Amino acid sequence: MTQKSIVILISGSGTNLQAIIDAVKQGQINAGITAVISNRADARGLQRAQREHINTAVIDQNAYPERIAYDEALIAEIDKYNPDLVVLAGFMRILSGKFISHYRNAILNIHPSLLPEFKGLHTHRRVLETSNQVHGASVHFVNNELDSGPVVIQAQVPVLPGDTEETLRGRVLQQEHIIYPMAIEWFIEGRLQINDNEVLLDNKVLHRPVLWKENQLTFSQQH
Ligand code: GAR
Repeated sequence: MTQKSIVILISGSGTNLQAIIDAVKQGQINAGITAVISNRADARGLQRAQREHINTAVIDQNAYPERIAYDEALIAEIDKYNPDLVVLAGFMRILSGKFISHYRNAILNIHPSLLPEFKGLHTHRRVLETSNQVHGASVHFVNNELDSGPVVIQAQVPVLPGDTEETLRGRVLQQEHIIYPMAIEWFIEGRLQINDNEVLLDNKVLHRPVLWKENQLTFSQQH
């Protein structure tokens, strides 16, 4: 059987990219990362990919004032690698409906909050402005609405007294680095699917996201 192909889109430091690279190297994810593509030439994650001899490309957002033209250029680059899965790993651009339907049911994103809470930007800062004692991250399929596609897995972390945006971000990122490779592994193994707006894991509908908490996976009772 030919090896499955994953293309990863980034905009920044790429610590999630690194976690996925490591999971591939350790055999947790049985696929090849065939390309890492950034919308910014200065994304540090590009160097992480180059160190591993993974193809990289920059589709510079400044060269494409129109969203559709940008997304068409991005699609053209991604399609060179014929991926089974497109992974957004800190890719800080909104994708058009055209892009999303092109890779229908095969785009995963990670978002630094317990969705549906705190969609959008500056999630850690916004959580600290509330009295919430729990925060986290979510891996979800991407649909046409921002940060609203069906959630596969979430990790919870406590919000601690004295937390700053940085300490909270660090605690959430550590968990992102565990749950993102896990969800990608499930997808690549064919265990994770999406049917309309429902997520299926091992052919059973996930009524609630899988929860990763205190180093354990919990499945909702209906699963
Ligand atoms: C991660 O925290 C990810 O959840 C977030 O960007 C960070 C990227 O870090 N993504 C979003 O906010 C998407 N809306 P990384 O470049 O070190 O992986």
